[in-house]
Order: sequence, then C-alpha cells, then structure tokens
Amino acid sequence: MNVLLIGSGGREHALAWKIAASPLLDAFYAAPGNPGIAEYATCVPLDTRDHEAVVNFCRDKNIDLVVIGPEAPLVGGLADDLIAADIAVFGPTADAARLEGSKGFTKDLCARHGIPTAAYARFGDAAHAKDYVRKHGAPIVVKADGLAAGKGVTVAMTKEEAYAAIDECFSGLFGKGGAEVVIEEFLEGEEASFFCLCDGKTALPFGTAQDHKRVGAGDTGPNTGGMGAYSPAPVMTEEMISRTMREIIEPTLKGMEEIGAPFIGVLYAGLMITEEGPKLIEYNVRFGDPECQVLMFRLKDDLLALMKGATDGQLAHMSARWHDEAALTVVLAAKGYPGAPEKGSAIGGLDQAPEEGVEIFHAGTAVQDGVLCANGGRVLNVTALGRTVTEARDAAYRTLDRIDWPDGFCRRDIGWRAVEREATGKSLSVAAQDQQVAD
Ligand code: AMP
Ligand code: GLY
Repeated sequence: MNVLLIGSGGREHALAWKIAASPLLDAFYAAPGNPGIAEYATCVPLDTRDHEAVVNFCRDKNIDLVVIGPEAPLVGGLADDLIAADIAVFGPTADAARLEGSKGFTKDLCARHGIPTAAYARFGDAAHAKDYVRKHGAPIVVKADGLAAGKGVTVAMTKEEAYAAIDECFSGLFGKGGAEVVIEEFLEGEEASFFCLCDGKTALPFGTAQDHKRVGAGDTGPNTGGMGAYSPAPVMTEEMISRTMREIIEPTLKGMEEIGAPFIGVLYAGLMITEEGPKLIEYNVRFGDPECQVLMFRLKDDLLALMKGATDGQLAHMSARWHDEAALTVVLAAKGYPGAPEKGSAIGGLDQAPEEGVEIFHAGTAVQDGVLCANGGRVLNVTALGRTVTEARDAAYRTLDRIDWPDGFCRRDIGWRAVEREATGKSLSVAAQDQQVAD
C-alpha cells in the first residue's frame, strides 16, 4: 500500500513509526513531516490547505491511503476533496468533523440522543451569556464554539472569571472560533480519554489514556496541548468502557449516520468519570497528541490494516490487541510554551543508545545547518513501556535526562495519579485490568 501521512507533530511521528512496521506498506510519504518522521517516510513540502495539490500528489504517486493526523485539515474538508477524487482517506469528512469543529453541534447531538454530558446553553452575544452565568452561578465552564487550538475553554471558579472569559471569546481573539460561546455546567470527577476506530457504522474500542493538559507540576498553570500522557487510564474499568460504548459512542455513530455524516476515523471522547458514570466533555476527531504516542506503544496489531479496515467498512470483523504493559510519554517543550516558545536552540544527546522499549518522538524539530534545533512549542516526546506506570515513567525520565537541551523544559510528575495509586496498592496491575476486560 502507498501511504501519505498528513501532519508534523509527535502524534504523526508515532503513527509513522507504527505504519512503517506494517507488512502492507510499500511507498511512504509524509506532508510536511518532521526530522523524526523522515526516518521512515519521504517528507514532502505540500501545503495541505491546497487540496488540489494534495490530490495531484496522490494521483502522481498512486497513493492508496491518506492518513490525516491533525484536526485543521479535517475540519477544512481535505477528506471530502480526496474522497471526491476517489482516494481513500482515514479521517472524517468536514460534516463529520463538526464533532470537534463545533462544540454547539456536538451538544445538540447529545441532547437529541440522550448522551450524558454537562447541561449547556449556546449564545451569540455577551449580554445573554452573562445573564445565564448570573442565574446559574460558579463554578461554570465557558467555551469558544469553534477550534481555538485547545485554548478556548475556561473553567471559571467565580462569576467574574466567567464574565472575563465571555468577553475574551467575543473580542475576536479566537477568530471565527469565538463567534459563539457554549456555557456548561461544571462536572466533577476524574478525566479520561477514550478512543475508538470507526468505519461509519461500527466503533472498535481503541484504548484509553490520561493526559496532563496543564503546563505546571500538580496540574497547575495554563492549559497546553498536553505535557504528557499514559495508557491505560485506570478509571476506565471494563464497566466504564462498556457504559461509554453503549451510552455515548454508539448513539453518536448512529446519530451521525442518520444525518448523512457517517463518521470514519478516530473518535476521541474526552470523558469525565462522575459519580453517575461517564459523561462526555468533548469529542475530537483524531488521535490525541501526546495520547497517540502511548496508544501506538501498546498496540500489538497492524495499524495500517486497521485503518484500511475503517475506510473499507470492515471493522465489525476486526479486533485490536494490546500489550499488557503500561506506556507513558513525557513532552519536552521549548521555554516559553504555551505562550511564545523560543525557536532555534540546538538539541543534543539524541544519538545515545536507546533503551529497549523507549522511543523519542519528534514534534517541533528542524535540522538547520546539520544541527537538530527546536522549531515549535512541544518539541520531543520521550515514550516508554513498563510493567507498571511507575516503571514506564522511570524509563522515560532516564532517557530524557540524557538529552542535552538547556532551552527545553518538561513536567517531572507525569503519571502522578497512577503512580500514587500503584504506591498505595489501590490499582490493579495493567495485566489484571486487561484480564478483566477479556473476562
Ligand atoms: P476541552 O477543550 O473541552 O477538553 O476542555 C479543556 C479542559 O477543561 C478539559 O480537559 C477539562 O479539564 C475542563 N473542562 C471542560 N469542560 C468541563 C466541564 N463541563 N466541567 C469541568 N471541567 C471541564
Ligand atoms: N492532548 C489533547 C489533545 O490532543 O487534544
């Protein structure tokens, strides 16, 4: 199979690493890719906003499958134009990508199908939004309706904070993404990320993870794209997974099919596990970054075969198997992230002999005059497997500490909840959890 992978982050490096291991793979291209991905694929400088250029490239190289990593090209309709040109795509159409592209769309779908989620209201102007906050009080959650690079959500602990967030949304800071706000009930519980591969009709559970969105230790400071993650998520017990499939994922797939927008690709449910059970916080229409890195480490089966199965409507006849071990990834970011990260500093120490079961995935890196340099906010992801989350964490930090990059930083406490659980003996081992699922 000739494959074109779209994207340039740590998520796409992990996908490239896994796709490259497939016996089904022939030629492999990435657009634009990064220096890590270049180890497996030919990186091509295609402008993925220029859909015609992507279609022409696919025709020229006889591409059999396009895998789209990030949300922007999906919401922008790249899959639609490829499908119109008869090129198979792993990733949803623009209509189906509204599950991520419009929080209001998703909330309305949840309301129509009785999918458990926070109570909400949608507003097109600040005055009515503030009236609603005045009436409902804090804590309360304010969200820009559209894509805001993960920065459009404010969990307001006071009414004043909520008012300020509403003004910010309508100030134009998030462009079109802030033309409408969604105001939501504050949910209490533990968060987890749940992934499914979807072929339009069938959803195949595809692993669980927990990520660390805040920039600082102890989950403090501003939100980021994610500073680290681990898999599996201990809160996602067998019962939670089957309730999530039944109460959230299956009605969503059915609802999307009913409106003529069947969902094909990865459906990523951000969940709050509350006392009443799983509630949907949000959907994403792609793998999480850095959650993808830990999922790829635990996946035993051929990713390319599964992606092809999703585009061919064959998932009802397929399964995904997982390694018993836990996986954990730590993000190394450039100082200044998530604000204005400094670019251009040199990174050394990546040529160290890698430990067994550890990989360094590239995100924002570039080679300048033969030297590997930082070229973005999140720069490297050190990913490791271990019998427990604690072991995976220790292996990841051992490798990370041998990387020579004074201009980078990381969180030192990735996995802390799971590590604490393991220390107090409250959690089942990963193998025991998987056994539970198998039972
Ligand atoms: P989102 O971009 O929708 O995932 O929101 C970012 C973060 O805000 C989530 O990961 C949660 O930590 C928090 N959040 C969003 N919605 C809610 C809610 N209704 N209740 C509590 N926390 C929320
Ligand atoms: N790590 C969160 C996300 O990819 O949305």
